[in-house]
Amino acid sequence: MFRCHDPIAIVAGPAGTGKTLGDLWKVHLCALKYPGMRGIILRKVQEDLTASALVTFQERVLGSGNFNVRPYGGSKFTPASYQYPNGSAVLVGGLDKADKVMSREYDLACLIEATEFFEDDIEKLSTRMRWGVMPYQQIYGDCNPQGPGHWIHKWWKDGKLTMFNSTHKDNPVLWDADNQEWTEQGVAYMTRLDGLAGFRRDRLRDGKWTAAEGAVYPHFDRQTHVRKTGKGTDEVDVEGWGAIVGMDVGTRNPTAIYVVRYAGDRIHVERERYQRGMSSDSMVDAAVDAFRESEASHVVIDPSAASLIQSLLERDIPVRKAKNDVQVGIARVTSVLPDLTVDPSCVNMIEEFETYKYPDGVRSTSDAPVKDHDHAMDALRYVVFDISEYPPNARMFY
Ligand SMILES: Nc1ncnc2c1ncn2[C@@H]1O[C@H](COP(=O)(O)OP(=O)(O)OP(=O)(O)O)[C@@H](O)[C@H]1O
Ligand SMILES: [Mg+2]
Repeated sequence: MFRCHDPIAIVAGPAGTGKTLGDLWKVHLCALKYPGMRGIILRKVQEDLTASALVTFQERVLGSGNFNVRPYGGSKFTPASYQYPNGSAVLVGGLDKADKVMSREYDLACLIEATEFFEDDIEKLSTRMRWGVMPYQQIYGDCNPQGPGHWIHKWWKDGKLTMFNSTHKDNPVLWDADNQEWTEQGVAYMTRLDGLAGFRRDRLRDGKWTAAEGAVYPHFDRQTHVRKTGKGTDEVDVEGWGAIVGMDVGTRNPTAIYVVRYAGDRIHVERERYQRGMSSDSMVDAAVDAFRESEASHVVIDPSAASLIQSLLERDIPVRKAKNDVQVGIARVTSVLPDLTVDPSCVNMIEEFETYKYPDGVRSTSDAPVKDHDHAMDALRYVVFDISEYPPNARMFY
């Protein structure tokens, strides 16, 4: 990593291998080596930087010698920075304050937790990499692996970035390279990681870019698919979009009710109600509320919920029975997934997207997924099928 001059380079690896410490050392060493250079330590949200990486930078990197680096607090228009006696500067920023970051030029941009960034963040940042003091300009960073659908993994497969893998044996605190054995801390840390399960273990212990084994939607990825509803940057503005309420009824299982927005090919899941043990009356009330508040065109519902359908009709709610062909529904959700986003408040849907899977981790076209963690998935499938089956103003309700 220290020797790599490629335009975009990422160190990926499981938790605690020393990735961030290495990142911070690179920007510091370059600041010393190239007088007048300008670097920036970046995180998606600046606040997260202050709490962790900057403490490490000050204590472990700058604190390791006598470099006479002066911290400068920044102002409304200028990012905080570290000023080196040789004229180099290492700035600090977050893309939540994108204007400050994007109004300047850099030699090096050091991305902490690079998977938090979006593809277009990197594209925009690339245009700022022209300070021209260092012999090369580079966006580099670190991350823990995510799902195989994450853009970093895709860019790596497409040859658009250089990837390095780091392992726990790279961290001298955990691995004693002279004696080829784990240190006491290493044993304790690895035992903790051994306690993780499923895809989290694969990613954080073994450093693999995996989704849940046998995942029905392996390309679902939080960084890509979870976006707030709103009018800000990175938010999904649903003004003028249509709305449908999707509902999966549970008696022993949770009942799942979603407001799903759509416009053209875009679909955005805006709101969730996910609750166990609801009475039929409260299910009807919740569906009516979601319908009214979102000004939805209709409710799409589990076809087996006959009495609930009846109650909704009695309250003048347009209802359409969902097509309950699981295979076809999953195929349709898969095909709209690149254009689908979910509001972060829909925590159960996000969780189900990551855990909904085929039995024994095996996927084949005839397999039905495990009927567990599938309530949000069912409700979404009903709506997606409905959108793809009927024109927006079709009036074929009950
Ligand atoms: N070469 C090293 N020398 C001394 N300490 C190290 C070294 N590498 C890592 N460490 C220490 O190990 C711990 C983990 O390092 P760091 O936070 O950089 O890991 P990480 O890979 O970024 O972890 P995460 O995946 O959780 O973000 C820190 O306390 C760090 O100071
Ligand atoms: Mg880190």
